[in-house]
Amino acid sequence: MLSNKLDALSWNLASFIAADASQSKVPSFSSNHLVVVVVVLIGVLTFISLCKPQPRLSQVTPPIVPVKALLSVITPTAAAWPADYIQLINYTASSRTKTISISLSSLIENICHRKIEFRNYQDLIHLFSGALVVHGWRLELVIDGGIGSKVFGWVIGNYFQSKSPRRRQLKRTHGSSSPKGNILFKLFPLNVNTHIDLDCTSFSQVDYALDSLRVDLVRDQTATLEFTTPASSLEFLGKDFIICAISLMSRKYAKEGNNRTTSSLFLDLKYVLQYLTTGEEALVLDSLINISKEHAEKLVAAADRLDKDKTIRTAFVHEWGIEGYSEERFMLGWEAALLLSGKHLARWRLVVRK
Ligand SMILES: *[C@@H]1O[C@H](CO)[C@@H](O)[C@H](O)[C@H]1NC(C)=O
Ligand SMILES: *[C@@H]1O[C@H](CO)[C@@H](O)[C@H](O)[C@H]1NC(C)=O
Ligand SMILES: *[C@@H]1O[C@H](CO)[C@@H](O)[C@H](O)[C@H]1NC(C)=O
Repeated sequence: MLSNKLDALSWNLASFIAADASQSKVPSFSSNHLVVVVVVLIGVLTFISLCKPQPRLSQVTPPIVPVKALLSVITPTAAAWPADYIQLINYTASSRTKTISISLSSLIENICHRKIEFRNYQDLIHLFSGALVVHGWRLELVIDGGIGSKVFGWVIGNYFQSKSPRRRQLKRTHGSSSPKGNILFKLFPLNVNTHIDLDCTSFSQVDYALDSLRVDLVRDQTATLEFTTPASSLEFLGKDFIICAISLMSRKYAKEGNNRTTSSLFLDLKYVLQYLTTGEEALVLDSLINISKEHAEKLVAAADRLDKDKTIRTAFVHEWGIEGYSEERFMLGWEAALLLSGKHLARWRLVVRK
């Protein structure tokens, strides 16, 4: 206690000297002043060194302090933390920054294997932007473990996967005289209440899907499009891009639980709007709403159902194992947080009429 106060005192003194020295263009800082200050400083420093029982090096934070901060966000499901979290806690306690850097790859693996869980999914919203502070400690995510290259692989794979079938389809229709609409039936059936989720349409097929909609929508009928876009511009393979891609990518354990494409990372609301409502066969805009919050609630409800509905849970675990179940549940919460953060993803419902 005392030595802390004295540290503060010598610090004040040092800044006093520095402040004075910076004004030394005015010749008020005489050598007499300097002698007095140096003598006082030496006295104070000697006193401090006598007061301190142990050397400075051993003054590390006891690990219990970062543990308390971490515990209020993430809890171990068993009696002990996983080994890499013990290392993280030791490392954090001995570092001088008050930041707990959580590895993204280890976080996901430990969650899938049910070794840890989040107390509250709302915390993810702040964790994404590095603004989650508990007991004076800041928690942040670190992109590691080759996650960046996995995301890159997924983006590239999606691109090529979607290119090939499209070319084949176009060729087939070119040969016959059938209208463009026939291809559309492959993409989504058109009926009275046409409802299209563009998130499942490959990004390279979006223009084509929108063209088809303009041509094939029957007069006086409406079509509803729902799609996810970045909420703000995402730097390609930047941290936010990767954080967004995590919940859209194919799962590691629940392999067929997700059929999303990269469209959500690249679509632009203005572009879709303009594409549908201008040019030949232009459609009329009926309504456009931001359904980010509504959709996030749906995702959270789906995660809850997975947890609480025994029939659904058992079937899911039977199909994808306990890891697949934990993964799916976590990713639903993750995407909900991305939609609620206001900076990552946004979801839109667009109704058009012909
Ligand atoms: C963490 O620190 C504790 C005590 O400070 C030590 O007993 C333990 O072996 C350390 N664990 C790791 C994984 O470094
Ligand atoms: C994509 O998955 C959803 C449910 O996860 C399902 O309702 C939908 O039919 C699937 N779409 C395609 C094109 O497989
Ligand atoms: C959409 O709604 C979400 C959630 O209510 C909000 O955070 C976000 O700022 C909205 N986005 C736009 C572009 O209006």
